[in-house]
Amino acid sequence: MKKSKLIFLVTLLVSCFSAKAVEYIPITTNNTCLVLKVNDKNRLEQTYFGKKVKDMGEMKTVDQETFASYSTFGTNHVFEAALRAIQADGNTSTELGYVSSSVKKIDGNITQTTIELKDEYYDLFVTINYKAYQQEDILEQWVEIKNGQKKSIKLTNFASSDLSFNATEYYVSHFHGDWSNEMNISEQKLTEGIKIVDSKLGVRTNQFTHPSFILSLNQQASETSGEIIGGTLAWPGNFQFCFEVDNSNKLRVISGANPYASEYTLEKNEVFKTPSLLFTYSNEGTGKMTRDFHRWARKYGIKNGNKERSILLNNWEATYFDFDEAKLTRIIDDAAKMGFELFLLDDGWFGNKHPRNADNAGLGDWQTNTKKLPNGIPYLINECKKRNIKFGIWVEPEMVNPDSELYEKHPDWVIAQPHRERVLQRNQLILDLSNPKVQEFVYNTIDNILTENPGIEYVKWDCNRYVFNSGSSYLPADKQSHLFIDYSKNLLEVMNKVSKKYPNVTFMACSGGGGRIDYGSMKHFDEYWISDNNDVLQRITTQWGAQYFFPTIGLASHVSVAPNHITNRSFSLKSRFDIAMAGKLGMDLQPSQMTEKEYEFSKNAIQKYKEIRSTILMGDLYRILSPYKQNRTTFMYVNDNKSEAIVFNFLVRKEIYPTPPTIVLQGLDPNKKYTLKEINKDPDDWSRFSKYEGKTFSGDYLMTVGLHFAMYNEYESLVIQLNETK
Ligand code: GLA
Repeated sequence: MKKSKLIFLVTLLVSCFSAKAVEYIPITTNNTCLVLKVNDKNRLEQTYFGKKVKDMGEMKTVDQETFASYSTFGTNHVFEAALRAIQADGNTSTELGYVSSSVKKIDGNITQTTIELKDEYYDLFVTINYKAYQQEDILEQWVEIKNGQKKSIKLTNFASSDLSFNATEYYVSHFHGDWSNEMNISEQKLTEGIKIVDSKLGVRTNQFTHPSFILSLNQQASETSGEIIGGTLAWPGNFQFCFEVDNSNKLRVISGANPYASEYTLEKNEVFKTPSLLFTYSNEGTGKMTRDFHRWARKYGIKNGNKERSILLNNWEATYFDFDEAKLTRIIDDAAKMGFELFLLDDGWFGNKHPRNADNAGLGDWQTNTKKLPNGIPYLINECKKRNIKFGIWVEPEMVNPDSELYEKHPDWVIAQPHRERVLQRNQLILDLSNPKVQEFVYNTIDNILTENPGIEYVKWDCNRYVFNSGSSYLPADKQSHLFIDYSKNLLEVMNKVSKKYPNVTFMACSGGGGRIDYGSMKHFDEYWISDNNDVLQRITTQWGAQYFFPTIGLASHVSVAPNHITNRSFSLKSRFDIAMAGKLGMDLQPSQMTEKEYEFSKNAIQKYKEIRSTILMGDLYRILSPYKQNRTTFMYVNDNKSEAIVFNFLVRKEIYPTPPTIVLQGLDPNKKYTLKEINKDPDDWSRFSKYEGKTFSGDYLMTVGLHFAMYNEYESLVIQLNETK
């Protein structure tokens, strides 16, 4: 035998014996399935993500198409990578081999799959974790990266998830806006190359974009059909979703904390834990995606997700900073008489040397202002108690005004770069949470307020600016780039500590409106403030956007004055109530400024809301007509046993010659009979709904033939209650 032939045969034999058996790792929920595969080169690949097949064994019959599962910048990858590490010796590549995997049943609903990988040469360990929430069809993925080398390594990319798709077309929807104009949704077709949706704001990171995306395969996203992947990152910090369509029209979606300006040094044995990406697959459009997320969130994603919420009166737009004990007591009295269940005292109650009479002073000095409130917070709590309502308070613990005692004492506690101007936003600076002392201060701020004033049952935790000068006087020079990550990590720790100590206090996540709504934070918050803008038209799109991923039970929505303070547009009290009642009802206006008729209307609406709130807050949401497509917006909630539904309709543009759309309802039981009734009707207005009023129809009729009624006037609204009739 020739020498070359012999070498060939030996090589073949060696490779036959060294090739590993292919292994499949299915991660399944009731209706979906992600299949990973360890190939014969010992690499982890994604081979399928979509609707669950009945016989998983069939997956192995032929070789399916595969994609890298957690791609690394290494030796054979030429696209964006999920992980890029610089090893201790300077080698810039990572090649992860499969080590092992295990499956653990956490309870009847959650299964956790853990996959261990290791670089083939270096001691760099990567653990990929998946939690599969069976009933809700939600997957949660996070990654732990461990440095086992003697010296430090540097991570420059550290994604939570790396998903691949092969479809003819890809459409991505994401959410964007700004203060008072949050959560607008727009959809784009992806073309070859990269689209990035991200935030670099550091803190209050959702002000311009939201850490959620909707990916639609083969066609534009539809509410009721088509393949949809919805993802949202559980992280209050900078985030990045990178969508890359490659040369063969395959798509990779890399999601995680934003690597931008965030190189992270891992010391020996240190572990970097990424935030979780929560994602789902739906083959019934975005409607199912939303309902799955809402159900998941009420159980796992938001604090006390199944506990009824209190209807509150907030003094912010009613008084701004201009209040005293007498004024507040009057508001508390009116609130109780009107049927409110909680009074929320907003900004302006603290600071003595630098009184908080405007947004330019006092932030950081969390002592009650004795001029405005000589008898302190306990007095107000007691006034609430006397009237059988709860008391809540506003804080913004991560921030400081330069004009404050806190800043006089600790000028080095703020996020700032030396030799640079300390750039203010809303006259304030951000406290540097990478510093453990600051972390303690932030925790103590809330803890002290709650322990010194027993009886506070609600806290609005605000955060009114983002990062400009991302420097820390605490972090060493070679770890300045840790600031964005460490801030968010430590913030979550503080939130966790607070919510553990006060499980029964309701917390609202507010951030200059809707700047902080993510499932990392929401675990510790019962409610979220989606926008400072309570204008009805604005609220329709903002709430519409927020509800794709976030549940109604947390969506605080307030009736405020007309004309609206931000847009100067006027809306009827009815339409202001109708949009606020589509979420968790509250009010920001002083009852004493209402006419008798308005007062009566409000009282009745509050009473009605108490009767139907469980269907609204805990029901399934069905979007029927989109504000982006029609003059009319319609959506509805159906309770769990399908015995009650509430349908909200808003006309967003005047129709001179109305062409009423047919409202084909969804989510009802086709075999049940429902009686229809308009609620919140203005007693002086004629009803557009009179032909249906009090009539009974089957769910089948309502979901096939539907309802047909005109709406005429700009911004008018109409709410229908459907109750099962036996
Ligand atoms: C932020 C909040 C408002 C209000 C003010 C108080 O803007 O979003 O609701 O609490 O702060 O300063």
